[in-house]
Amino acid sequence: MFMRNLFFSLAVFVAYPVLAVENSPKLGKSAPQTLQKNWNLDIFPDGTGLPAGSGTAAQGKKVYQQYCLSCHGVDGTGDSADELAGAKHGLTDTVPDKTIGTYWPYATTIFDFTRRAMPLNAPGVLNNDQLYAVTAYLLYLNHLVKETEVINASTLPKVKMPNRDGFINSYQPKK
Ligand code: HEC
Repeated sequence: MFMRNLFFSLAVFVAYPVLAVENSPKLGKSAPQTLQKNWNLDIFPDGTGLPAGSGTAAQGKKVYQQYCLSCHGVDGTGDSADELAGAKHGLTDTVPDKTIGTYWPYATTIFDFTRRAMPLNAPGVLNNDQLYAVTAYLLYLNHLVKETEVINASTLPKVKMPNRDGFINSYQPKK
């Protein structure tokens, strides 16, 4: 038994670095096209990078209930994970509620962040329509869009977030 376990551990030790190296890009060589495509996910505040697809808050409620509610609570008011809506305190209060509605400067970030990181236990399971729908639902919970408003690549960047001007741009381009 001991020998078998020892052999297994050694096999993992020896095999793991080989597999890891095989799958990672090598210095001096460009990364494979599929890897570049999968990493090239950024969405900009003006909507650059948003994919095709659309959804409404009414549709997003179902997505939220299936994939998000268990951690973010009923109506996004928070549970084991952050509150996403339902702020009772503003940013200047002693204990501010930093929800999407009070804090986030750009609506497009909801799509970007959810696509790359949520649901925490299975990122990547939602298709683009589901992502637009759940983004619409989170905006709706924060009173920023109507329940039936269609959210897509052209409407999402137009949603003006209340804290849009609350951040200082520390990036100064070189003259
Ligand atoms: C298994 C638990 C879990 C599930 C399910 C889950 N989340 Fe999260 N979520 C988290 C945790 C934990 C964080 C904080 C992560 C961090 O700060 O890096 C988070 C952070 C977030 C944030 C950023 C909040 C902020 O203000 O910084 C958003 C937006 C979000 N989740 C959306 C969603 C959406 C949409 C879904 C469903 C599609 C979802 N989450 C499902 C656990 C979860």
